[in-house]
Amino acid sequence: MAHTITLIPGDGIGPEVTRAVVRIIDAAGVRITWEQEDAGQTAVERGGDPLPASLVDSVRRNKVALKGPVTTPIGRGFTSVNVGLRKALDLFANLRPVFSLPGVPARFGDLDLVLVRENTEDLYSGLEHEVVPGVMVSMKVITQTASTRIARFAFEHARRNGRTRVTGVHKANIMKMGDGLFLSCARQMAKEYPEITYDERIVDATCMHLVMHPEMFDVLLMPNLYGDIVSDLCAGLVGGLGVVGSANLGRDMAVFEAVHGTAPDIAGQDLANPTALLLSAIMMLQHIGEGEAATSIRQALATVLTDGRARTRDLGGAATTTAFADAVCAVL
Ligand code: NAI
Repeated sequence: MAHTITLIPGDGIGPEVTRAVVRIIDAAGVRITWEQEDAGQTAVERGGDPLPASLVDSVRRNKVALKGPVTTPIGRGFTSVNVGLRKALDLFANLRPVFSLPGVPARFGDLDLVLVRENTEDLYSGLEHEVVPGVMVSMKVITQTASTRIARFAFEHARRNGRTRVTGVHKANIMKMGDGLFLSCARQMAKEYPEITYDERIVDATCMHLVMHPEMFDVLLMPNLYGDIVSDLCAGLVGGLGVVGSANLGRDMAVFEAVHGTAPDIAGQDLANPTALLLSAIMMLQHIGEGEAATSIRQALATVLTDGRARTRDLGGAATTTAFADAVCAVL
């Protein structure tokens, strides 16, 4: 079956890693017509909007996108394209599987957990104002609707994937109302899933436990900002930002992207590790019913990583992005 999918190369290392992943998907024999759309700095430099309407329309039409990272200027400039896209398409769930990969040097050899991040509100509501000069307020918005929806997603994901524990991560000792509401929605949902153990941990202690005993965790459920921070920490446990994929999921739309950003320090040098986006693409292939190709790519990736000859610089090797993609294609 042929598929039409929106491709957003994005900024920085985005075009390099998307090019590599598109080649690998092609080598696996999946027929995809890519609708390419600019975003972020690249779109602005070409005289467009950072989040063009044509991009949003394309994802609405195709229901699926593969996305490279997009620059978000710090403290000025356009607002986050990533946040804008997630809101425009109501991609309320961010799923970030974190697992050890064969042949990837990491702190823990047998890690397998899933981070579920609420993707539409919290401090990402973008509601900020100056009360008086020298006093700024950034609003953390937590709603019952969004919290219940993401809690259902986390428990449902656990049930369908044979996972046995969901941990609600919070700071409700301080934000008694906002995080308190998030937790009460999770507790309520837990009652509908009696076979799954539900527990709660404060976010700071969660970070400490994650770096010492990550095997304590199975599914981590958390509001937007904690999810952003803790998922980078989790990436560090299994080899870094180059090896963790993610999916932004809504009711009937999905955008697959790596956890990492545009990596300006290595952009344009053919140095980036495309594994993170490749893992996102494997999730995408499963999502569109191309499970067999997803399995072939996963196996080819494992072969190349274990073999060690085409290891990128972040994993201690000297292979370029292109050489890594060549190696995976050759195995396929
Ligand atoms: P970053 O993730 O781009 O880079 C952090 C470090 O990890 C850098 O040293 C980089 O070289 C390394 N790294 C990241 N991905 C890698 C890969 N695939 N292979 C090898 N090394 C890799 O984070 P940073 O520097 O904080 O953000 C840069 C820009 O990216 C910012 O504008 C930020 O807003 C944006 N960003 C975009 C995201 C998205 O589009 N989903 C997510 C995170 C950040």
